Amino acid sequence: MMLELDHVTAGYTKDVDILRGISMQVGPTEIVTILGPNGCGKSTLLKTMAGFLTPREGRIVLAGHDVSRVPVYRKIRESGVGFVPQTDNVFTSLTVRENLLLGGQFLSVRERDARIDELCESYPVLAKRHTSAAGGLSGGERQLLSLARALMPRPRLLLLDEPSAGLSPKMVGDVFDAILRTRDTAHIAVVMVEQNAVEALRIADRAYVLAMGEVALEGQSSELLASDDMRNLYLGGRAA
Ligand SMILES: Nc1ncnc2c1ncn2[C@@H]1O[C@H](COP(=O)(O)OP(=O)(O)O)[C@@H](O)[C@H]1O
Ligand SMILES: [Mg+2]
Repeated sequence: MMLELDHVTAGYTKDVDILRGISMQVGPTEIVTILGPNGCGKSTLLKTMAGFLTPREGRIVLAGHDVSRVPVYRKIRESGVGFVPQTDNVFTSLTVRENLLLGGQFLSVRERDARIDELCESYPVLAKRHTSAAGGLSGGERQLLSLARALMPRPRLLLLDEPSAGLSPKMVGDVFDAILRTRDTAHIAVVMVEQNAVEALRIADRAYVLAMGEVALEGQSSELLASDDMRNLYLGGRAA
C-alpha cells in the first residue's frame, strides 16, 4: 500500500475529535476520492495525511513506514508527499515560473529547471503563461498551476483538496483530465477530496464517504455510482 490509515483520531483542540477512528487504504497508483457533506472532516483528514495535524490515536503508514508523527515539511521533502490545499493556493503576485520554482525549493537548480521544462510540456497552458503573474490566470489555470507546483519534487502521493471547487463545468472536466493523466503518466497515488461527487467518481478508482468524522460508505467508484444509498444520501437523488 502507498498509504494506510489505521483507526486515526485527530482534531484541532485537545478535547474535540474531528476525525473519529478513520481507516483507509490507498494503492500505489490508485485515485481515491473522499466525499461527504460540508464540515464532515474531509479537509481535516487530508491535513492529517499531510502532517499538519498529528493523530491523537491510530497510525498513518506511508509506503510501509509509520509517519504518524512526521511533520508536513519532512513529508513533502523526504517522504514524497505533495499537498494542494483547498483555498487559493497560488501566489498571485508571482509569475507562473516563480510559483513552480517555489514548489521545487528542495531541488538542485539543475533539477528544478529540468522539472519546470517537463511540467510545461505536460501543461502547455502554463508554458504559454510562463512569465505572467499567476493572479491573471483563470480559475482552472490556477488549479493546474497548483497541481504542477505540487508535482515539482516528483511526489509518490498527491493530496488534493477540492481541485474542482469554483470551476465551470468545462474546467472541472479539464482539471480532472489532468489529474487522471498525471496518475497515468507519473504512476503516482492520488487522494482527492471533492464536492463534485459524480465527476470525481468517474475518474477515481475508489471512494470513501465521510459523515461526521467517520467513514460512512466505501467502495469501488462504479459500485458507489450505482448504489442507492450513495444516490439518496450524497448525490441528492440524481441518476449517476
Ligand atoms: N483550523 C481549525 N480549527 C478548529 N476547527 C476547525 C479548523 N478547521 C476546521 N475545523 C472544524 O473541523 C470540522 C471539519 O472541517 P473540515 O475538515 O474543514 O470539513 P470539510 O472539509 O469536510 O468541509 C468542522 O466542524 C470545522 O469547523
Ligand atoms: Mg474542506
